[in-house]
Amino acid sequence: MAGTVFAGIARRLEGKVALITGGASGIGEATARLFARHGARVVVADVQEELGRAVCDDLRAGGAPAAFVRCDVTVEDDVRGAVDAAAAEHGRLDVMFNNAGIVDPARSSIVDYDAADFDRVLAINLRGAFLGTKHAARVMIPARRGSIVTTASIASVGGGMATHAYTCSKHAVVGLTRNAAAELGQHGIRVNCVSPATVMTPLATKHIGLSVDRETLEGMASAAALLKGVVPKEEDVAVAFLASDEARFVSGHNLVVDGASTSSRLPFSARAGG
Ligand SMILES: NC(=O)c1ccc[n+]([C@@H]2O[C@H](COP(=O)([O-])OP(=O)(O)OC[C@H]3O[C@@H](n4cnc5c(N)ncnc54)[C@H](O)[C@@H]3O)[C@@H](O)[C@H]2O)c1
Repeated sequence: MAGTVFAGIARRLEGKVALITGGASGIGEATARLFARHGARVVVADVQEELGRAVCDDLRAGGAPAAFVRCDVTVEDDVRGAVDAAAAEHGRLDVMFNNAGIVDPARSSIVDYDAADFDRVLAINLRGAFLGTKHAARVMIPARRGSIVTTASIASVGGGMATHAYTCSKHAVVGLTRNAAAELGQHGIRVNCVSPATVMTPLATKHIGLSVDRETLEGMASAAALLKGVVPKEEDVAVAFLASDEARFVSGHNLVVDGASTSSRLPFSARAGG
């Protein structure tokens, strides 16, 4: 896991309480570590208990308040319990990061696509985000403040980049974000989503279907971007910005973080000449 991209920057989340689903691994873990460096009190919610507890132990060893709660985001009682645990422990919930997600390896035609696989991906990637948004809103509305962020994907802005279920789930996350932003704005709650391109996590290697090392996959991700010279890391997903008060007028937004890879089908040199 990368841990030094934003070393030395101002503490943007001082005193805030953040609940992060899927915080045991990948983008969620990196975000938990980044939030802690920004001064947040972090609660990690995940089905991977051992990994999640290890992340929190590590954060606490570094002096940052952090707690783990086991939570399957498809189970409403689990999500309700995680939100209530965070609010009870700290007396508030400022940031909900709905980040838990899976990708299905199926690359078959829609004709052969198993409906059970479809349902499973939607249950975690979409229903989980819905339940997280619902229960975070429940405790944020009386406080009249809060930032809810969900991890979508570049598969939310185009087709053909992932499986049918994954693409549907991430497009739907954008709809959920816009609808929740429309309702919750009156309570001072911002709702956004973030759409990364490939960053090196267990999910990404499963999606690509190759057994590759971090350097190789990051090289592939970097090469796919039209912006050159940046190797994308988990921390680049920009959740700290959306979670912080610096984004106080940003709501209903899908922030695509992809080095312009979805901005054009062609490199600029090919377009400029044509
Ligand atoms: N890595 C990428 O390239 C990439 C690109 C675009 C979007 N995303 C999205 O980023 C998010 C995080 O993925 P990642 O790449 O860090 O993968 P990851 O596999 O490293 O992390 C996902 C985490 O979600 C947890 N999780 C899965 N099902 C769960 C459930 N039912 N309840 C609670 N937790 C559950 C896993 O245990 C894991 O800790 C996902 O929503 C994914 O779709 C990832």
